[in-house]
Amino acid sequence: MRVPDRLDVHTHLLPHTLPRWCDRFGYGGFIRLEHSPEHHAPCRARMVRDDGRFFREIEDNAWDPAARLRDCDAHGVGVQVLSTVPVLFSYWTPPADGAEIARFLNDHLAGVVAGHPDRFIGLGTLPMQDPERACRELERCVRELGLAGVQIGSHVGDWNLDAPELFPVFALAESLGAAVFVHPWDMMGEARMPKYWLPWLVGMPAESSLAICSMLFGGVFERLPRLRVCFAHGGGAFPFTLGRIQHGFEARPDLCAMDNAVAPAAYVGRFWVDSLVHDVRALRFLVELFGRERVALGTDYPFPLGEAVPGALIAQAYPDAVSDAECRAWLNARAGWSWLLGT
Ligand code: CO
Repeated sequence: MRVPDRLDVHTHLLPHTLPRWCDRFGYGGFIRLEHSPEHHAPCRARMVRDDGRFFREIEDNAWDPAARLRDCDAHGVGVQVLSTVPVLFSYWTPPADGAEIARFLNDHLAGVVAGHPDRFIGLGTLPMQDPERACRELERCVRELGLAGVQIGSHVGDWNLDAPELFPVFALAESLGAAVFVHPWDMMGEARMPKYWLPWLVGMPAESSLAICSMLFGGVFERLPRLRVCFAHGGGAFPFTLGRIQHGFEARPDLCAMDNAVAPAAYVGRFWVDSLVHDVRALRFLVELFGRERVALGTDYPFPLGEAVPGALIAQAYPDAVSDAECRAWLNARAGWSWLLGT
């Protein structure tokens, strides 16, 4: 496949209609989609929890491939990497139900990819609360559905990503050559963040740093040298606090080095992050820290905290037509490609 001008590694897709899982499984807690023409908004839908609590309003580009492609064409995005919306992970459900939800979402996502295989690449979702089922679904995603990998949450219930229970999933991802995208969700401290959208603004960056630190300190990257992982939102709080994390490792190895004797800084450049940091200085810092080969365009399309014009921040940070061209090419597409394909 040719390298597109822009490859967006962080976009979310929903089906037009979600099953009534609360009826099917006999308990609540799920999201449903309400399409409400009575609101004079035929191209909009409301994501509502089945207890009636409103979650988010979305537009048709959340589910309609044609609407997405119109936006892609308008912004020079050649390929979108599709993943589900993290609120649908459903890790809290009994495993068999979670596996059914994952199969439904993955079959839908694979169908959209199959409709436009030159424009969409798919990442599946897994019932991570049951690592055995997660492995079976991961294998199905890659071998049967042709997906490039999976998106997982920054934690799974009470398990951080160093949990021994989860290691077989990472090991299988490595052996299948599946790319792994880690997205913050179910943010820590939410009970203390009732206002100001703080779970998204403070909790999400903390979740991403927790996920990265768990994988570093837990030795996941050490034991799986070919595992390819990309973290959303520029790695959250991790890049700016790496000095503290490294210093902590050196100062208190009794606390930090219990599962892995290799220092955190040694893994810089070993994993990818997306470019979604909304600040030119932060993006330049990411590139300086991780290398341009490890920072991949990601926009969180089609959600409001995303980058409305894909690649705008990259263009702003690296504006020179000649001397920045190579860097822009890496950030806009090559870095994402190297994560997805291992090239
Ligand atoms: Co996202």
